[in-house]
Amino acid sequence: MGREEWSSTLGFILASIGSAVGIGNIWRFPYIVGANGGGAFLIPYLISVLLFGLPLMVLEFAIGRSTGKSVVSAFQSLGQRFSVAGLAIVVIVSLILSYYLVITSWVLAYALFFALNRPVDFGAFTGSYLPLIFFLLSGLAVFLTVRSGVREGIEKVARYLIPALVVILLFLVAFSLTEPGALEGARFYLLPDYSRLADPGVWTAAFGQAFFSLSVGMGVMLTYGSYLKRGDLFRSASIIVVADMLIAILAGLMIFPLVFTAGVDPAAGVNLAFVTLPSVFVEMQFGMVLGALFFLMLFAAALTSAVSMLEVPVATLMDSYGYPRKRATLLIFAAVMLLGFPSALSYTALKLEIFGTPFLDLSDYVFGTIGLIVAGLILSIVGGWYMDRTRIYAEIGGCRWQQRVYTVLIRYCVPIILLITLLGSFFQVTG
Ligand code: TRP
Repeated sequence: MGREEWSSTLGFILASIGSAVGIGNIWRFPYIVGANGGGAFLIPYLISVLLFGLPLMVLEFAIGRSTGKSVVSAFQSLGQRFSVAGLAIVVIVSLILSYYLVITSWVLAYALFFALNRPVDFGAFTGSYLPLIFFLLSGLAVFLTVRSGVREGIEKVARYLIPALVVILLFLVAFSLTEPGALEGARFYLLPDYSRLADPGVWTAAFGQAFFSLSVGMGVMLTYGSYLKRGDLFRSASIIVVADMLIAILAGLMIFPLVFTAGVDPAAGVNLAFVTLPSVFVEMQFGMVLGALFFLMLFAAALTSAVSMLEVPVATLMDSYGYPRKRATLLIFAAVMLLGFPSALSYTALKLEIFGTPFLDLSDYVFGTIGLIVAGLILSIVGGWYMDRTRIYAEIGGCRWQQRVYTVLIRYCVPIILLITLLGSFFQVTG
C-alpha cells in the first residue's frame, strides 16, 4: 500500500493550521502579550515567527516530503545514530501530548458546563474526579480521529473545525468590541511599552511562544509534509504562519475587552481561562451562550493540535516498525493516557505533586518548555547540517540568494536562538 496522502493542498494547509492553532493561540498568547510590553511584544514576536519559525516550518515540510517518511525513519536514512535523535523528538512530543490532553479535557468540560447552563468553580471541578472522565473522553476523540487516517480523520476534522473556529472567533471579537470596556481592554492589550524591549526575557518569551504556537521543531510539520506530494512549500507555510498569528491576535481582542468590561483583574496563566473569564461570562447577559461558544472554540483548537501530536508517534510506529495504523494508534493512545494520568490527577483531591509543584505544571515546564526547545535544537541541527542540501533545495525551490539566506537562518540563527531561549528558561525558574 502506498503512503497516505492529503486530498488537496487546501486539506494539508487546514490540517497544519489545525496543528498550529491551539491553546497556545487563544489562551496563552494574549496573556503573554499583556505581560510582556503589550503591542511592543509584537515586534520580537513577528521577528521570531518570520525569521525562525517560518524557515523551520519550511525545512520540516521539505524533509518530510523529500524522504516520504516521519521523523525517525527520515533521520535513519542519514545513519543509524540519527535514529536516536529522532526517537528523542518523538518521546518529547508524546510527553507534551500527555499533559496537553489534560488541559484539553478541562476545556471540553467547561464547554459542556456552560452549554448546560451549569458553570462550576474551578477548584471544585478540578478537586473532584470528574476531570478524569473528561480526560478519557478527549483522549478518545483524539484517538478516533487519528485512527481514521490522514484523509478521513485528520484532514476531515480540520476541514470542519477550523472554519467553525474562525466563525466563532469573529463573532466573539465583534461582540467584545461593542462592550463598554472595549477601549480600555484593547489599550491594556496593545498599547506598546517599548521600554520592555530592553528586557531579554521579553525576547526569549517571544521565541518560546513562536515555536510552541507554530508547532515547529517537533516533527509534527515534518510528518504532515510527508503526506504531501506537490505544491509550493514556502507559500503553504506562509499561509499557515499568517493564519496562526491572526488568530492569536484576534483572541486577545476578544478576551481583554470582556475582562475590562467586567472590571476584574486581567490574570495570567491558568486563572485567565478557567477562573477569570468564566466569572466574566457568569455575570454577563447571554454569558452562558458566550461561554459555551468560547470553550467550544478552544476545544476545536486544542483537539486539532492534540491530533497532530498523536500522529507523530503513530506515524513512527507505522514507518519504522511496520505497524498498521489502527494498532499503532491504539498502542500509543494507551501509552499517552498512562503517561498523562499523573498530570490528570495533579489537581484532583489526590493532589499529585513533586516538591510542592503540581505534576501538570512540572510537565509543562520540563516537556513543554525545556523539551520543546531541545527537540527544536535536534531538528534544526540534524536538518540544517546533515540533510542533503540539494535535496532540500529541490523541494523548496527559490533562487540562489534566497537559498543562502535560508541556509544561514537554519544552520546558525535558529540553533543559537534556541540555545539562548533554553538558557533563558533555566533562569526563569532559578531567577
Ligand atoms: N501549536 C499548538 C498550540 O498553539 C500546540 C502544539 C501542537 C504543539 N502541536 C505541537 C506544541 C507540537 C508543541 C509541539 O497550542
